[in-house]
Amino acid sequence: MEPFLHCFSLKCLLTIIFFIFPNYYILTQSVSSIQPPAACWDSERSALLHFKDSFILNNSASDFPLAYPKVKSWKVGGDCCSWDGVECDDNTGHVIGLDLSSSFLYGSIDSNNTLFHLHHLTTLNLSDNNFNGSKIPSAIGNLSRLSLLDFSFSAFSGQIPIEILELSELETLDLSGFNNDPELPFENNDNHLELKNPSLKSLADKLVKLKYLDLGGVNVSSTVPQSLANLSSLTHLSLRSCDMNGEFPIEIFQLPNLQFLSVSYNHRLKGPLPEFPINSSIESLRLSRTGFDGELPKSIGNLKSLSDLEVIECNFSGQIPSSLKNLTQLTVLSLPLNLFSGQIPSWIGNLSRLRVLDLSSNELRGPIPQSLFNLVNLEHLDLELNHLSGTVNLEQILQIRGLVVLQVSWNDFSVLTTTTKNASVPKFKWLTLDSCNLSKFPDFLAHQDELEFLNLGNNKIDGCIPKWLWGLSAKTLVALELQGNSLTGELTPMICNLSSIVVLDVSNNNLSGALPPCLSNLSRSLSVLNLQNNSSVA
Ligand SMILES: *[C@@H]1O[C@H](CO)[C@@H](O)[C@H](O)[C@H]1NC(C)=O
Ligand SMILES: *[C@@H]1O[C@H](CO)[C@@H](O)[C@H](O)[C@H]1NC(C)=O
Ligand SMILES: *[C@@H]1O[C@H](CO)[C@@H](O)[C@H](O)[C@H]1NC(C)=O
Ligand SMILES: *[C@@H]1O[C@H](CO)[C@@H](O)[C@H](O)[C@H]1NC(C)=O
Ligand SMILES: *[C@@H]1O[C@H](CO)[C@@H](O)[C@H](O)[C@H]1NC(C)=O
Ligand SMILES: *[C@@H]1O[C@H](CO)[C@@H](O)[C@H](O)[C@H]1NC(C)=O
Ligand SMILES: *[C@@H]1O[C@H](CO)[C@@H](O)[C@H](O)[C@H]1NC(C)=O
Repeated sequence: MEPFLHCFSLKCLLTIIFFIFPNYYILTQSVSSIQPPAACWDSERSALLHFKDSFILNNSASDFPLAYPKVKSWKVGGDCCSWDGVECDDNTGHVIGLDLSSSFLYGSIDSNNTLFHLHHLTTLNLSDNNFNGSKIPSAIGNLSRLSLLDFSFSAFSGQIPIEILELSELETLDLSGFNNDPELPFENNDNHLELKNPSLKSLADKLVKLKYLDLGGVNVSSTVPQSLANLSSLTHLSLRSCDMNGEFPIEIFQLPNLQFLSVSYNHRLKGPLPEFPINSSIESLRLSRTGFDGELPKSIGNLKSLSDLEVIECNFSGQIPSSLKNLTQLTVLSLPLNLFSGQIPSWIGNLSRLRVLDLSSNELRGPIPQSLFNLVNLEHLDLELNHLSGTVNLEQILQIRGLVVLQVSWNDFSVLTTTTKNASVPKFKWLTLDSCNLSKFPDFLAHQDELEFLNLGNNKIDGCIPKWLWGLSAKTLVALELQGNSLTGELTPMICNLSSIVVLDVSNNNLSGALPPCLSNLSRSLSVLNLQNNSSVA
């Protein structure tokens, strides 16, 4: 599973996973013809109960907010076809589906587990449990009818067994897992799966029915096999953070049914990007932190279904191609930490569905085009660390009511503040206006009560820090940066209202007086307190 841009927490990630992969099976009860057992097959009931008994139920084994122990209701003697998470075939009464995702299962699993007696299974979903670093048992090869296998986020580790290649009916294979440091994926860390022998190539050669393949966080450490481009049914391919290297086969971009492609976090993986075909189905294209570079091809405008383009920290250069203006389905355009130059194109306002626009840390110049303020669906706007110039009227930005993240620091423009009478402005979580030539605290801040990160550093704000700053967002504020202004007066004891504060920087101002004694009470959360270069703060 690929985390979305906004998704920083585990719970959020898993919410998305289950949004995409809701409970897979409709529970049906067998009541029919040939010779169905009265309830379910004794041998299968017994296999399920033994499977249940081989685990501890532990709340911390699952992260999905709606997780619950599905197996808890399984009772000796019951009709296993009616059990939570179990699906039987209407005619034969055999167990054909098992969905025990997010079921608090904790413990090891091996080939002796009675799970592998359930030969009729076609779908098996054990995602979001904790199998405690177990290897995927080689007995998985017994389940040769599987068309869906989902072991994602379940703490399996080690080499994936060769027997997986026997699952020739597989259409969905999800073995993705967490990877806390995608930059250095597999060093000093045993908690991941490996796909080396068998390799990704053998997988692609054998599992030719695959439609959905997610190996995010699996240590593959190889080139991307050409044979992946032969999987003509493929709709979803994630090789995120798999330590892939070499040149990415351009034919994969041309797979006719491909909707989702992520190869992010493979810094040894190289381009080039292809000429994109006209009939492409690609909706999500994620190439962040890879070695793809050069210009974005004009033909990217052929990707009419593209809703999400994420190329964070590659070495792309040149102008943002004008063919992008035809991609009116775009909701996420995230191009930070590249070398894009030229101006922010004034057709940007055409992309009216944009929720995320991140052009930070590029070489963009010139003014912010007026049309940008037409993007009424924006939630996240980040333009910081460019060379944008001119003036920006804050009131115009505040018209975009859904903004949660606004970052425009470190450009060459001035942000103009006017008095906002209208209290109906966005509720920001992240707001950075560092080096924006502000001469006062913007009024609208007085209405912000959900701020987590506020940076007004290196402006020309003088006078005292207004009292309201310590009030409304006191419970949520994690970082407050006011350094490099001309602030005067004392630090009020109200500072101690900031119960979540981690970073507080008021250095390089003209503050004076004694520090409020209660500051020592903040020390539990506070990890950066910078007071230097003031008048006489003591
Ligand atoms: C989990 O693995 C550890 C280390 O291998 C082991 O000590 C522990 O008993 C296992 N826990 C369970 C519930 O299997
Ligand atoms: C892809 O499939 C074609 C036709 O089935 C075959 O000739 C070719 O060898 C395959 N390519 C790879 C890389 O497996
Ligand atoms: C980008 O290019 C610079 C200089 O050519 C190089 O040092 C850097 O590693 C490249 N970054 C990536 C992500 O390839
Ligand atoms: C946008 O699409 C139209 C037709 O769909 C095409 O004529 C035009 O050249 C495209 N514009 C760009 C900049 O690619
Ligand atoms: C900063 O604002 C002042 C007015 O407060 C203005 O005179 C000056 O030109 C601005 N500087 C820049 C770089 O825009
Ligand atoms: C700092 O404050 C002192 C007195 O409080 C004042 O004399 C001085 O001019 C101020 N300096 C600046 C740079 O504002
Ligand atoms: C620190 O907090 C405690 C408990 O809330 C309070 O009693 C005490 O007065 C505070 N200390 C200072 C110096 O404000």
